[in-house]
Amino acid sequence: MATACESQVRPSAMADGTAIRVRRGSKQLAGRTILRDVSFDVDRGSSCAILGRSGSGKSTLLAILGLLDRFDSGDLQIADHNVGELSPAGRDEYRRRHIGFVFQRAALIRHLNVFENVAVPLRYASTVGRRELRLRVGSALASVALEGFESQRPTELSGGEQQRVAVARALVTRPTVLLADEPTGALDAATADHVISTMLSASERDGTSVVVVTHDSVIARRMERSITLVDGQA
Ligand SMILES: Nc1ncnc2c1ncn2[C@@H]1O[C@H](COP(=O)(O)OP(=O)(O)OP(=O)(O)O)[C@@H](O)[C@H]1O
Ligand SMILES: [Mg+2]
Repeated sequence: MATACESQVRPSAMADGTAIRVRRGSKQLAGRTILRDVSFDVDRGSSCAILGRSGSGKSTLLAILGLLDRFDSGDLQIADHNVGELSPAGRDEYRRRHIGFVFQRAALIRHLNVFENVAVPLRYASTVGRRELRLRVGSALASVALEGFESQRPTELSGGEQQRVAVARALVTRPTVLLADEPTGALDAATADHVISTMLSASERDGTSVVVVTHDSVIARRMERSITLVDGQA
């Protein structure tokens, strides 16, 4: 049965409440060490900023946490799995189940309306029926205060509204982890604050862990903790 319970029964953390565990993660790109023996934990339902100067490896780390890339050595555990042990197909499935992404630009699909944009990740989840899909999209849009915008096109929205749609799209699967790479880089301070608030309330409501790469110290201070990358180390 397609089920709202699915997200309640699937483990979203390790037995001790850790959602993400990185141990001695290292990554080289083009012969250069970008990440060196990075280790940290992110608890279920907590928030964390990743800081560091341009080129310090923040996006590289986020892509690895989102299973779009992998460490050359070291371990990454998300929810209840050591993801290094998953097959390529298993990683794709795990990403769909556990990870939501938000990037600097909302990257909405122009010819789809707001409802359909938010529904995209659920369309890949064959277990979600039509009624459940409608409920989930409605609740994701409510969580970013965009009820009533369902039939608008991305071009009819402000930058902040577009970014809130992108947050709703990332949250609609009720992921274990919400990863955001400079999600407010293109927004003014007040709009940025609102977008961050929507992420933090999802974290409180659903126990989603939020990891945000940012250059903005105001946003970093809104997270429970921060990790700074310097010379490839956290
Ligand atoms: N595909 C790649 N091949 C080779 N080098 C890469 C590749 N991707 C990134 N790099 C290098 O890795 C380093 C870290 O890049 P990354 O994008 O993770 O930095 P960042 O901290 O996100 O920077 P910014 O704040 O500017 O976004 C940079 O020096 C970059 O040039
Ligand atoms: Mg970056």
